[in-house]
Amino acid sequence: MIVLLIGSGGREHALALSLTKSPDLTKMYCSPGNPGINKIAEKVSLTLNDHQSVIEFCKNKAVDLVVIGPEQPLADGLSDSLRLAGIHAFGPSKAAAQLESSKGFAKEFMLRYNIPTAAFHTFISGDEHNALNYADSMGYPVVIKADGLAAGKGVVIALNHEEAENAINSMMGGLYDSAGKSLVIEEFMQGEEASIFAITDGTDFITLAPAQDHKRIYDGDKGPNTGGMGAYAPAPIVTEDVMTKVKESIIIPVLREMASEGNPFIGCLYVGVMIKDGEPKVVEFNCRFGDPETQVVMPLVDGDVLKLFYSAAIGKLDQSSIKTSVSGHACCVVLASKGYPGDYEKNFPINGIEIAEENGAFVYHAGTSETDGVLCSSGGRVLGVTAVADNLKDAVSKTYESVNMIYFNNAFFRKDIAYKAL
Ligand code: AMP
Ligand code: GLY
Repeated sequence: MIVLLIGSGGREHALALSLTKSPDLTKMYCSPGNPGINKIAEKVSLTLNDHQSVIEFCKNKAVDLVVIGPEQPLADGLSDSLRLAGIHAFGPSKAAAQLESSKGFAKEFMLRYNIPTAAFHTFISGDEHNALNYADSMGYPVVIKADGLAAGKGVVIALNHEEAENAINSMMGGLYDSAGKSLVIEEFMQGEEASIFAITDGTDFITLAPAQDHKRIYDGDKGPNTGGMGAYAPAPIVTEDVMTKVKESIIIPVLREMASEGNPFIGCLYVGVMIKDGEPKVVEFNCRFGDPETQVVMPLVDGDVLKLFYSAAIGKLDQSSIKTSVSGHACCVVLASKGYPGDYEKNFPINGIEIAEENGAFVYHAGTSETDGVLCSSGGRVLGVTAVADNLKDAVSKTYESVNMIYFNNAFFRKDIAYKAL
C-alpha cells in the first residue's frame, strides 16, 4: 500500500514510525516532512492548499491512503477534495473538522446533544459589552476562547474583570484575525485533564491509550501554555469507569449526532476532558491526533496501524487490526529551545540522538533542520524523546536518561513529566 502522510511535527514522525511497521506498507511519502521523517519516508514538497496538485500527485503515484496530521489542511477541506477525487483519506471533512476549527460550533453541538461540558455563551465582535457582563456574571476565573484556529494561543483564563476585558477587546479587535471575531466565554472547570483518541470510520470506533499532556512551559505546571512539553500514557486518572463514561456520554453521541447531521467524523477524534470526582467533561475536541500525546500513544499500539487507518478511511473499521488492551507505559519529554513559547535562538547543532536511540529511546523530530549533513535546532519544540517500559517509573527514568544523552545549545526541558502519576 502506498501512503502519503501530511505534516512535519513530532506527531507525524510518531505516526510515520508506526505506519512503517505494517507489512502492507510498500512506500510512504511525506509532505513537508522533517529530517527524522525523511529517513523513513520520501520527502515531497506539495502545496497543501492547492488541492488539485495534491490530487494529481496521489494519482501519479497511485497513493492508496492519505493520512492528514495537522488541523489546518483538514479545516481547509483537503479530505473532501481527496474523497471527491476517489482518493481515500484518513481525516475528517471540513464540516466535521469544525469540532476543532470552531469552538462555538463544538459548544453548540454539545449543548444540543447534552454532552457534558462547561457552561458557556458565544458572542460576536461588536458585542464586547455583553461579553464582559457575562464574564462578570460567571465569576472569576473565567475562560475566554477565540472561536477559530489560533495555533493553540486562543485561550485565556482571565483571573479578574480587567484580564477579561483585555482578552475580549484584543481578540474581538483582531488579535487572531477573524479567528477571534467570535468568542466563547465559559465556566472554569476544576480537575485533571486527559486526552483520549478515538479512531473512527464515522460509526464504529476504537480508543487508544489515554494520555496526559503537560501544556505549561515550567515544572509544576507554571508559566505560559505551550504546544505541549511532554506526555505519558496510559494516564491512571482515566480509570476503566472514566473511560466507559467518556465513551458513553461523549464519543458515542458525538459520532452518532455528527452523522445524523450529515457530517460523519472519519479519522482521529481527540477528546480533551477535565476529570473531577470521576466525572469527565469536554474541554475541547480536536479533529486530529494530539502532539505530543501521539508520541506516547503510538508506541503502545500493538497491531497494524496502516490497516486501522485504511479501514477507517474506507468506512469499514477493522476492530481486529490492533489489540484493544494496552500493555506497557510510555513517557515523552520535549526538548525545546530556551525562550519558547516566546522568542528563542535557533540553528544550534544537535548531538547525541544516536546514543539516545541506542539506549532504546524513540527520538521524534519536531523543529529540526539539516544543512550540509549537520542537524540543527530550527523551532520552539525541537525533539520529543520517548521511552517505553513495563511500568511508568521505568519509562520515565529511561526517558530522562536518554534526554540527558542529547545536547544542543539553549536546550530546555521540563524535569517533572509524568510525576503527577508516580
Ligand atoms: P483548549 O484549546 O480549549 O484545549 O484550551 C487550552 C487549555 O486551557 C486547556 O488544555 C485547559 O488547560 C485550559 N482550559 C480550557 N478550557 C477550560 C475550562 N473551561 N476550564 C478550565 N481550563 C480550561
Ligand atoms: N497536545 C494538545 C494538542 O495537540 O492540541
